[in-house]
Amino acid sequence: MRQRKLLLAAGARPNFMKVAPIIRALQAWNQANPDRALLHVLVHTGQHYDPEMSDTFLLDLDIPQPAHFLGVGPGSHAVQTAKVMMAFEEVCAKERPDAVVVVGDVNSTLACALTAKKMGMAVAHVEAGLRSRDLSMPEEINRMVTDALSDWLFASEPSGVENLLAEGRPARCIHLVGNTMVDSLLHALHSMDGEDVAEGLPGQGPYALLTLHRPTNVDPPERLKEIMGAVELIGRDLPVYFPVHPRTKARLQETGLATRMAGDAVRQLPPLGYKGFLRLLRGASLVLTDSGGLQEETTVLGIPCFTIRDNTERPITVQEGTNTLVGTSREGILAAFELFRKGRTKKGRRPALWDGGAAKRIVEILARDLEGEA
Ligand code: UD1
Repeated sequence: MRQRKLLLAAGARPNFMKVAPIIRALQAWNQANPDRALLHVLVHTGQHYDPEMSDTFLLDLDIPQPAHFLGVGPGSHAVQTAKVMMAFEEVCAKERPDAVVVVGDVNSTLACALTAKKMGMAVAHVEAGLRSRDLSMPEEINRMVTDALSDWLFASEPSGVENLLAEGRPARCIHLVGNTMVDSLLHALHSMDGEDVAEGLPGQGPYALLTLHRPTNVDPPERLKEIMGAVELIGRDLPVYFPVHPRTKARLQETGLATRMAGDAVRQLPPLGYKGFLRLLRGASLVLTDSGGLQEETTVLGIPCFTIRDNTERPITVQEGTNTLVGTSREGILAAFELFRKGRTKKGRRPALWDGGAAKRIVEILARDLEGEA
């Protein structure tokens, strides 16, 4: 039988956590099934390029050195997407894979899916079907287009399956497999067992953890001031640790908020590596965030999460997990904090299939289907 080849594409910080367990599952598959081995080639688009946004993640997640580094860097959405497409086309032409695997919803996800599909290659999308119904989020556009093109749609939660069926995607392409981000989380926590929870923490006692980077929250100065005003008040009660994303760092400096907030209430940190971030996360009493991944990670860890947005593409974290949508107004955020202070927090439970086995399921389906095409 001809050996099958997969091209795995990743480019931005949240992609690395989703692709790492797939690489591990492919290695395990190949060891267990040497006669049915799947070749796999990792491509790093370079959308995120600062060491703390990229290299430390590859290291912490045990991701092997990518075979191709496209080095696209920053740019407007059109420029970044176009640069990835141009460079990825060359890689596809050289590697001639049987299928391209893309993960998540960043610009690199869309660019690689679009390029591969136009070259007649099959595309698998990991984390398919999530919808916020908010087209002001670039990620929502990336999700919709990527799903419209993909031949395998690997959903992380039932809402993903429902959305894809409602959009007319054929049921045979849709697979509810669980969440590869959770695979990474459980794997890392296991490897960190026995480590001091507080190791690497700049302080003692209870604290909250904040991350903020969505353009709609950090780009308009008024919105950023409103959110940071609420965070500062919370910080007087419960110190807030805040690893700052490069986009947000620039906005905090432009608005003068970076210096105004310098104090003990809100402690600004550089972006952390995966394990460093997990150490901070697992000791937190409360998380405030506008990230997608953290809504899922807090649900698995049972930590109350305030999502500073009006919608979420991950409704299971609200329905079953510890997530609460608190909106973006100062009043909304503080009202939620008041309930938290009174001990009225969501307990939540871990959703079905968020068990560390998502990547294994994905690899088994890909192997079966690619063999079927022989
Ligand atoms: C991207 C993803 C978003 C994801 C986020 C996680 C898209 C549309 N958005 O947003 O879904 O949640 O990553 O981090 O793909 N920058 C650096 N160093 C880096 C990377 C970025 O300084 O390593 C700067 C860029 O120059 C730019 C800003 O940060 O000024 C934003 O970067 P960009 O990759 O465009 O989008 P993110 O906001 O990171």
